[in-house]
Amino acid sequence: MTSSLISSRNPLTRATDLHAKASPDFVAKLAETQALLRRAATEFAPVTQASSLGAEDVVITHLINSLQLGIPVFVLETGALHTETLALLERTQAHSRTPIHVFRPVPESVIQFVRDKGQDAMYQSIDLRKACCGVRKMEPLTRALKGQKAWITGLRQEQSTARAEVPLLDDSEVATKSLYKFNPLAAWTWGDVWHYIATNQVDYNPLHDQFFPSIGCAPCTRAISLGEEFRAGRWWWEDEAAKECGLHVKK
Ligand code: ADX
Ligand code: SF4
Repeated sequence: MTSSLISSRNPLTRATDLHAKASPDFVAKLAETQALLRRAATEFAPVTQASSLGAEDVVITHLINSLQLGIPVFVLETGALHTETLALLERTQAHSRTPIHVFRPVPESVIQFVRDKGQDAMYQSIDLRKACCGVRKMEPLTRALKGQKAWITGLRQEQSTARAEVPLLDDSEVATKSLYKFNPLAAWTWGDVWHYIATNQVDYNPLHDQFFPSIGCAPCTRAISLGEEFRAGRWWWEDEAAKECGLHVKK
């Protein structure tokens, strides 16, 4: 998927200019990623890609489209995403060859949660933040993964210490959930991701041009400053150890 939008943007800083820098072994990594995605499509169907529409995920969707793998993509539209993310979702749905499915929370559950706990409950305690993630992300995730044999995510080892061991193919939840997880960019650097986006002119979330490396829901994501960790803008008021919404937390 390419976009003329990229060339029509005129931000002071462009994430592509700032970050694109391929590792010396990028060609080999790309070949490994492509082979893994082909394997996912042929040996692990039904398989689906989880996309937050962040930089890693737009790369994977672009690869799925260019390799014509036909792997469907799903987006958890929490009802609290940035307008920039929603606009990218619309463009992706319009241009992607492979289907893009949107999963939303149960409206009554959100209404009840907000009525009982308040609009800003996530800032009050970790438990309330996790409860919000439960209603807006985890329950829709369960529906998105129902009947799937495998899913594909954009997790990378470099993203945090908690993710340093992320494997290319995670089979640790096969026994409990009968689900394989592919992390085809596990070994990619941030520079590799942006090198791919720049060379293939992949459409991306303009928030990346505004120093948002990791993008989640609007109330829980901020820009980072020079020298801050990659995920410092996610749930920034919480301790490092708590900073996962549950999508990738093993029971
Ligand atoms: S999170 O657990 O902290 O929210 P993060 O934003 O780093 O995760 O994204 C890691 C991966 O989880 C993404 O590459 C994507 O595969 C999946 N993911 C995260 N948010 C969503 C979402 N809203 N919809 C679908 N997949 C998502
Ligand atoms: Fe709620 Fe924030 Fe979790 Fe989004 S990231 S579901 S707004 S607590």
